[in-house]
Amino acid sequence: MKLCVIGVGRLGSALLQGWKKTDWALSALGKHGVPREVKEVTFKEAIQADIVVVAVKPKDVASVLQELFAHGQSPGPLIVSVAVQPDLQTLQAHAPQGAAVARAMPNIACAVGKSVTAYACGRHVSSRQQIQLQALWDACGQGILVEENQLAAATALSGCGPAYAFRFIQSLTRAGEQMGLEKTQSEQMARGILQGAAGLLEKEPEKPLVQWIDQVATPGGTTEAALKKWGELEFDRVVLEGLAAAYMKNKTRGQK
Ligand SMILES: NC(=O)c1ccc[n+]([C@@H]2O[C@H](COP(=O)([O-])OP(=O)(O)OC[C@H]3O[C@@H](n4cnc5c(N)ncnc54)[C@H](OP(=O)(O)O)[C@@H]3O)[C@@H](O)[C@H]2O)c1
Repeated sequence: MKLCVIGVGRLGSALLQGWKKTDWALSALGKHGVPREVKEVTFKEAIQADIVVVAVKPKDVASVLQELFAHGQSPGPLIVSVAVQPDLQTLQAHAPQGAAVARAMPNIACAVGKSVTAYACGRHVSSRQQIQLQALWDACGQGILVEENQLAAATALSGCGPAYAFRFIQSLTRAGEQMGLEKTQSEQMARGILQGAAGLLEKEPEKPLVQWIDQVATPGGTTEAALKKWGELEFDRVVLEGLAAAYMKNKTRGQK
């Protein structure tokens, strides 16, 4: 399969890293060059791919599609936009009649094969192309087919998600420091917590989260004291309000 990524920024380069282990013919088109192991192509060559992943800012998606389709016949390759906007209907309008377009919301963990990527298909995506799309996202983590109206929530949760985990590590580090640990020690422990928890989840993927929590938090014990305090401070509400802010931003940032 011939796969081309247009836009080699923060997400585009992470996607290329994730896909370099596959046996697909990888190419890319970036304003500032492409990674050494990837073939650099022009728009005229990019349109020859089976799948073109558009990884530019929302405001640049329309001009990229215009340049791409200036060089090819319809219906052309399957176009997959990873931008938060535009929606499928608008993408379809920027592509020739009958072109297959899809949207997806990966996160930067695709670089290490760990992005859980929600994707939605436009009406011209064939069943063969849908299988290819599933394989595309499974190759850098795991693909989940959703309705387009679920993508904004998937963006707020998963697209942005790695930053939340890193931010939580910062909070843990700061809390450890305030309780007397050196910053380096505290950060080492905080990073270890998320890596350790991720390793356990990977080892026993079926085990419910509540059981994992119970395994650490004995009734009336130390961990339970922290969790109880977080409950009183409405930790879930704080998390929800953050994601809701991301969700709303998503809805209003079409031109940025
Ligand atoms: N970063 C994430 O974690 C993440 C997660 C989920 C979804 N997304 C989505 O992914 C898209 C890319 O995000 P990003 O964070 O990777 O942005 P970014 O770092 O700004 O990368 C976009 C890249 O595309 C280049 N570009 C713009 N127009 C181009 C053109 N005509 N041809 C070739 N390259 C072009 C940009 O160059 P210039 O800077 O010179 O214009 C830049 O290098 C956005 O739509 C975002 O919503 C990002």
